[in-house]
Amino acid sequence: MMSAVRVGVGVILVLFSSCLSLLDAQQITHPLDVSALHAVHRKLKDPMDHLHDWKKTDPCASNWTGVFCIADPSDGFLHVQELRLLNMNLTGKLAPELSRLANLTILNFMWNDLTGQIPPELGNMTHLIFLLLSGNQLTGPLPQELGSLSNLLILQIDYNDISGSLPTSLANLKKLKHL
Ligand SMILES: *[C@@H]1O[C@H](CO)[C@@H](O)[C@H](O)[C@H]1NC(C)=O
Ligand SMILES: *[C@@H]1O[C@H](CO)[C@@H](O)[C@H](O)[C@H]1NC(C)=O
Ligand SMILES: *[C@@H]1O[C@H](CO)[C@@H](O)[C@H](O)[C@H]1NC(C)=O
Ligand SMILES: *[C@@H]1O[C@H](CO)[C@@H](O)[C@H](O)[C@H]1NC(C)=O
Repeated sequence: MMSAVRVGVGVILVLFSSCLSLLDAQQITHPLDVSALHAVHRKLKDPMDHLHDWKKTDPCASNWTGVFCIADPSDGFLHVQELRLLNMNLTGKLAPELSRLANLTILNFMWNDLTGQIPPELGNMTHLIFLLLSGNQLTGPLPQELGSLSNLLILQIDYNDISGSLPTSLANLKKLKHL
Protein backbone atom coordinates (compact mmCIF):
# COMPACT_ATOMS: atom_id res chain seq x y z
CA MET A 1 0.00 0.00 0.00
CA MET A 2 2.66 2.41 1.17
CA SER A 3 4.90 1.73 -1.81
CA ALA A 4 1.97 2.10 -4.25
CA VAL A 5 1.34 5.58 -2.82
CA ARG A 6 5.03 6.41 -3.12
CA VAL A 7 5.12 5.26 -6.73
CA GLY A 8 1.96 7.28 -7.42
CA VAL A 9 3.43 10.42 -5.91
CA GLY A 10 6.66 9.82 -7.83
CA VAL A 11 4.81 9.53 -11.14
CA ILE A 12 2.87 12.72 -10.45
CA LEU A 13 6.07 14.56 -9.55
CA VAL A 14 7.80 13.37 -12.71
CA LEU A 15 4.80 14.40 -14.85
CA PHE A 16 4.59 17.76 -13.12
CA SER A 17 8.26 18.58 -13.53
CA SER A 18 8.34 17.49 -17.18
CA CYS A 19 5.35 19.79 -17.82
CA LEU A 20 7.24 22.61 -16.14
CA SER A 21 10.40 22.07 -18.15
CA LEU A 22 8.33 21.91 -21.35
CA LEU A 23 6.72 25.25 -20.51
CA ASP A 24 10.09 26.71 -19.66
CA ALA A 25 11.72 25.54 -22.86
CA GLN A 26 8.82 26.86 -24.99
CA GLN A 27 9.52 30.33 -23.73
CA ILE A 28 13.11 30.72 -24.77
CA THR A 29 14.92 31.07 -28.06
CA HIS A 30 17.22 28.29 -29.26
CA PRO A 31 20.79 29.20 -28.22
CA LEU A 32 22.04 28.92 -31.84
CA ASP A 33 19.46 31.47 -32.96
CA VAL A 34 20.44 33.78 -30.09
CA SER A 35 24.13 33.70 -30.99
CA ALA A 36 23.33 34.19 -34.68
CA LEU A 37 21.27 37.30 -33.88
CA HIS A 38 24.11 38.72 -31.76
CA ALA A 39 26.50 38.19 -34.68
CA VAL A 40 24.04 39.88 -37.07
CA HIS A 41 23.71 42.82 -34.67
CA ARG A 42 27.49 43.24 -34.36
CA LYS A 43 27.80 43.74 -38.14
CA LEU A 44 25.08 46.41 -38.26
CA LYS A 45 25.24 50.07 -37.38
CA ASP A 46 22.03 51.53 -36.11
CA PRO A 47 22.30 55.35 -35.94
CA MET A 48 18.60 55.83 -35.10
CA ASP A 49 18.74 53.19 -32.36
CA HIS A 50 15.78 51.24 -33.73
CA LEU A 51 17.26 48.04 -32.32
CA HIS A 52 17.67 49.39 -28.79
CA ASP A 53 15.83 46.38 -27.36
CA TRP A 54 18.30 43.92 -28.93
CA LYS A 55 20.05 43.94 -25.56
CA LYS A 56 17.27 42.26 -23.63
CA THR A 57 17.89 38.70 -22.55
CA ASP A 58 15.82 36.60 -24.93
CA PRO A 59 15.08 37.62 -28.54
CA CYS A 60 11.78 35.79 -28.97
CA ALA A 61 10.47 35.91 -25.41
CA SER A 62 11.19 39.62 -24.99
CA ASN A 63 10.01 40.52 -28.51
CA TRP A 64 13.11 42.09 -30.01
CA THR A 65 12.18 44.63 -32.68
CA GLY A 66 11.74 42.95 -36.06
CA VAL A 67 12.26 39.42 -34.74
CA PHE A 68 9.34 37.02 -35.21
CA CYS A 69 9.51 33.48 -33.90
CA ILE A 70 7.91 30.08 -34.08
CA ALA A 71 7.83 27.34 -31.44
CA ASP A 72 9.30 24.04 -32.57
CA PRO A 73 7.65 21.22 -30.61
CA SER A 74 10.39 18.81 -31.68
CA ASP A 75 13.06 20.58 -29.63
CA GLY A 76 10.92 22.74 -27.32
CA PHE A 77 12.62 25.99 -28.29
CA LEU A 78 11.52 29.13 -30.09
CA HIS A 79 13.19 29.74 -33.44
CA VAL A 80 13.46 32.92 -35.48
CA GLN A 81 11.14 32.63 -38.45
CA GLU A 82 11.20 36.18 -39.78
CA LEU A 83 13.55 39.17 -39.59
CA ARG A 84 11.57 42.28 -40.53
CA LEU A 85 14.11 45.10 -40.46
CA LEU A 86 12.98 47.31 -43.30
CA ASN A 87 13.30 51.07 -43.45
CA MET A 88 15.37 51.56 -40.28
CA ASN A 89 18.36 53.50 -41.62
CA LEU A 90 20.60 50.56 -40.79
CA THR A 91 24.15 50.64 -42.16
CA GLY A 92 26.92 48.09 -41.94
CA LYS A 93 26.93 44.63 -43.46
CA LEU A 94 24.94 41.43 -43.69
CA ALA A 95 26.55 38.86 -41.40
CA PRO A 96 27.25 35.38 -42.80
CA GLU A 97 25.86 34.12 -39.47
CA LEU A 98 22.35 34.90 -40.76
CA SER A 99 22.64 31.42 -42.26
CA ARG A 100 22.60 29.91 -38.76
CA LEU A 101 18.96 30.91 -38.35
CA ALA A 102 17.88 27.48 -39.45
CA ASN A 103 14.14 28.20 -39.54
CA LEU A 104 14.17 31.61 -41.16
CA THR A 105 11.56 31.93 -43.93
CA ILE A 106 11.54 35.73 -44.41
CA LEU A 107 14.64 37.92 -44.46
CA ASN A 108 13.68 41.54 -45.00
CA PHE A 109 16.29 44.31 -44.91
CA MET A 110 14.65 46.50 -47.57
CA TRP A 111 15.28 50.27 -47.71
CA ASN A 112 18.26 50.61 -45.42
CA ASP A 113 21.84 51.64 -46.24
CA LEU A 114 23.61 48.30 -46.02
CA THR A 115 26.92 47.98 -47.84
CA GLY A 116 29.17 45.04 -48.71
CA GLN A 117 28.28 41.83 -50.45
CA ILE A 118 25.48 39.33 -50.05
CA PRO A 119 27.12 36.52 -48.04
CA PRO A 120 27.30 33.26 -50.05
CA GLU A 121 26.42 31.46 -46.79
CA LEU A 122 22.81 32.57 -47.26
CA GLY A 123 22.61 29.84 -49.90
CA ASN A 124 22.14 27.16 -47.24
CA MET A 125 19.00 28.67 -45.71
CA THR A 126 16.75 25.96 -47.00
CA HIS A 127 13.58 27.33 -45.39
CA LEU A 128 13.92 30.79 -46.93
CA ILE A 129 10.86 31.87 -48.96
CA PHE A 130 11.36 35.65 -49.16
CA LEU A 131 14.80 37.26 -49.57
CA LEU A 132 14.15 41.00 -49.63
CA LEU A 133 17.17 43.28 -49.92
CA SER A 134 15.98 46.03 -52.27
CA GLY A 135 16.97 49.62 -51.62
CA ASN A 136 20.43 49.29 -50.06
CA GLN A 137 23.99 49.84 -51.30
CA LEU A 138 24.96 46.21 -51.61
CA THR A 139 27.75 45.55 -54.08
CA GLY A 140 29.45 42.68 -55.82
CA PRO A 141 27.98 39.80 -57.75
CA LEU A 142 25.04 37.70 -56.64
CA PRO A 143 26.50 34.57 -55.08
CA GLN A 144 26.15 31.38 -57.09
CA GLU A 145 25.12 29.68 -53.80
CA LEU A 146 21.71 31.38 -53.85
CA GLY A 147 20.79 28.77 -56.44
CA SER A 148 20.42 26.30 -53.53
CA LEU A 149 17.48 28.17 -51.99
CA SER A 150 15.02 25.60 -53.22
CA ASN A 151 12.01 27.09 -51.40
CA LEU A 152 12.58 30.69 -52.49
CA LEU A 153 9.50 32.39 -53.93
CA ILE A 154 10.59 36.02 -54.01
CA LEU A 155 14.10 37.44 -54.49
CA GLN A 156 14.14 41.24 -54.44
CA ILE A 157 17.50 42.89 -54.90
CA ASP A 158 16.72 45.94 -57.04
CA TYR A 159 17.96 49.42 -56.04
CA ASN A 160 21.42 48.21 -55.03
CA ASP A 161 24.83 48.33 -56.72
CA ILE A 162 24.96 44.62 -57.55
CA SER A 163 27.32 43.93 -60.44
CA GLY A 164 27.93 41.08 -62.80
CA SER A 165 25.49 38.76 -64.48
CA LEU A 166 22.85 36.60 -62.85
CA PRO A 167 24.39 33.32 -61.72
CA THR A 168 23.24 30.42 -63.88
CA SER A 169 22.41 28.52 -60.66
CA LEU A 170 19.31 30.68 -60.24
CA ALA A 171 17.73 28.54 -62.96
CA ASN A 172 17.47 25.84 -60.23
CA LEU A 173 15.00 27.95 -58.28
CA LYS A 174 11.89 26.16 -59.47
CA LYS A 175 9.52 27.97 -57.14
CA LEU A 176 10.82 31.48 -57.81
CA LYS A 177 7.94 33.76 -58.83
CA HIS A 178 9.56 37.18 -58.71
CA LEU A 179 13.04 38.51 -59.32
C1 LIG B 1 5.68 39.62 -26.51
O1 LIG B 1 4.60 39.56 -27.41
C2 LIG B 1 3.61 38.61 -27.03
C3 LIG B 1 2.60 38.51 -28.16
O2 LIG B 1 2.34 39.75 -28.74
C4 LIG B 1 2.98 39.04 -25.69
O3 LIG B 1 2.03 38.10 -25.30
C5 LIG B 1 4.09 39.12 -24.65
O4 LIG B 1 3.58 39.60 -23.44
C6 LIG B 1 5.21 40.02 -25.12
N1 LIG B 1 6.33 39.92 -24.18
C7 LIG B 1 7.03 40.96 -23.75
C8 LIG B 1 8.11 40.67 -22.76
O5 LIG B 1 6.81 42.10 -24.14
C1 LIG C 1 13.46 24.14 -38.07
O1 LIG C 1 14.51 23.72 -38.92
C2 LIG C 1 14.96 22.41 -38.66
C3 LIG C 1 16.17 22.16 -39.55
O2 LIG C 1 15.85 22.35 -40.90
C4 LIG C 1 13.81 21.43 -38.90
O3 LIG C 1 14.22 20.13 -38.56
C5 LIG C 1 12.62 21.83 -38.03
O4 LIG C 1 11.52 21.00 -38.31
C6 LIG C 1 12.24 23.27 -38.29
N1 LIG C 1 11.19 23.65 -37.37
C7 LIG C 1 10.14 24.38 -37.73
C8 LIG C 1 9.14 24.70 -36.67
O5 LIG C 1 10.00 24.80 -38.88
C1 LIG D 1 16.20 57.92 -41.54
O1 LIG D 1 17.14 59.00 -41.67
C2 LIG D 1 16.55 60.19 -42.20
C3 LIG D 1 17.66 61.19 -42.45
O2 LIG D 1 18.49 61.29 -41.31
C4 LIG D 1 15.47 60.68 -41.25
O3 LIG D 1 14.88 61.84 -41.78
C5 LIG D 1 14.42 59.62 -41.09
O4 LIG D 1 13.46 60.00 -40.14
C6 LIG D 1 15.05 58.29 -40.64
N1 LIG D 1 14.05 57.26 -40.68
C7 LIG D 1 13.97 56.27 -39.79
C8 LIG D 1 12.83 55.33 -39.94
O5 LIG D 1 14.79 56.14 -38.91
C1 LIG E 1 24.79 27.22 -42.98
O1 LIG E 1 26.18 27.36 -42.87
C2 LIG E 1 26.61 27.93 -41.65
C3 LIG E 1 28.10 28.21 -41.76
O2 LIG E 1 28.71 27.42 -42.72
C4 LIG E 1 26.26 26.99 -40.53
O3 LIG E 1 26.68 27.52 -39.29
C5 LIG E 1 24.75 26.81 -40.52
O4 LIG E 1 24.38 25.89 -39.53
C6 LIG E 1 24.24 26.36 -41.85
N1 LIG E 1 22.78 26.48 -41.82
C7 LIG E 1 21.98 25.56 -42.30
C8 LIG E 1 20.53 25.88 -42.24
O5 LIG E 1 22.38 24.50 -42.75
